[in-house]
Amino acid sequence: MSDATDVRLAAQYETYPYPQRDPRQEAKRLIVGSPGHLREIDWWVFGARRPRSRPLRALIAGGGTGDATIMLAAHMARWGQPGTVTYLDRSEAALRIAQARAEARGLTNIIWRRASLLDLPSAVEAAFDYIDCCGVLHHLPDPAAGLAALLSVLAPGGGLGLMVYAPYGRTGVYMVQDALRLLAPPDEPPSARLDIARRVMRHLPESNWLRANRNFADHLTGGDAGLFDLLLNPRDRAFDIRALYALLHGAGLAVTALMEPMRYDPATYLPDPKLRARAAELDPVARAALAEALCANMSTHVAYCVRAAAPPEPADAMDDAAVPVARDMPAEEVARAIQPDGTLVFLFDGLRVPVAVPSLAAAILRQIDGVRSVGEIAAVLAGRGTPRAAFNRAWRETWDKMSALNRILLAPPP
Ligand SMILES: C[S@@+](CC[C@H](N)C(=O)[O-])C[C@H]1O[C@@H](n2cnc3c(N)ncnc32)[C@H](O)[C@@H]1O
Repeated sequence: MSDATDVRLAAQYETYPYPQRDPRQEAKRLIVGSPGHLREIDWWVFGARRPRSRPLRALIAGGGTGDATIMLAAHMARWGQPGTVTYLDRSEAALRIAQARAEARGLTNIIWRRASLLDLPSAVEAAFDYIDCCGVLHHLPDPAAGLAALLSVLAPGGGLGLMVYAPYGRTGVYMVQDALRLLAPPDEPPSARLDIARRVMRHLPESNWLRANRNFADHLTGGDAGLFDLLLNPRDRAFDIRALYALLHGAGLAVTALMEPMRYDPATYLPDPKLRARAAELDPVARAALAEALCANMSTHVAYCVRAAAPPEPADAMDDAAVPVARDMPAEEVARAIQPDGTLVFLFDGLRVPVAVPSLAAAILRQIDGVRSVGEIAAVLAGRGTPRAAFNRAWRETWDKMSALNRILLAPPP
């Protein structure tokens, strides 16, 4: 059901297709992220059980100017994944930019649809194995109805990748939105509102929380589209992790992973053993809520989920036949980044988190090429004198940490 706010939202994305993208940049870089990364889909949705040779039917619902569509279609072309990516958005302007990006890359595995996701299933021909909906549900009049529409076209055994805004990391955004509603009422033309927003940002008092917030930069570097989307959006709501779980559970979904899983583990922020022990007693949703409240810098939540009634049994990383693969950065480079004190340092939106890895981690990571199996890697290390039991211990810990950081995942069978 559309309302007056929704009409304004539709007009916004026609005038300021989001995010601001220039198709000429495709020659220089591929934008990657979560959700919608093929390695993540292979592991977090399908548990590395779905053969690469089986065609994948993916839907990118509310695809905007094409980031997820281009990434996934490019990954499928690069890694020999047959299938198609169906892009769907109701903004003609956004669709044109996404199409120009695909053309610049010579991608031929994309199907284009201009329609509202609320008109699913009639807007598409068939069901999908993977549905991506990034930054859209929180703009809808009724996010649960939007999610139900997506589920109406989810094939059996399929899964979703979702992104919604999170409240604490957006501190300051809603205060400035409140101010702008008073100075630039939503019924004024978009360009006039944007002018007011720029003036307000120029003299935003030092005490305003948005000035201290370094979790995103849309209003600083995202052009007109970024500024409008963040500060003048006619409707966005943030979901804390409990609200997100309530939405997903209400739709009959189970979360397979939040990105990155380590960020949602309160132990990441609790060196004190007494506090760790208390946190460990909480149920999984409460643990994630505790992590969110402690780090306080999450501005989005990315969740992969599947139907709760039929969760997949993921492949076992300790199995000799399992094939570990680096998400993006070659595992060799991850190995090189290990510090002399045996830690890898990760940045979670500016929060520096050193992660201790076992002394054999570097030797193991150097063998990970997306082709060698765990058994083969163990054999290489055995040839250099590492007993199997020592390998197993080191691999277990390396895998647990690297997968919780979303850096090393398991590849699907051929
Ligand atoms: C914030 S943008 C996100 C774009 C893209 N998913 C990304 O993350 O870069 C929201 C997009 O959702 C689209 N959208 C909003 N409501 C929609 C609906 N009911 N059906 C289809 N698209 C919709 C808008 O046109 C816009 O392109």
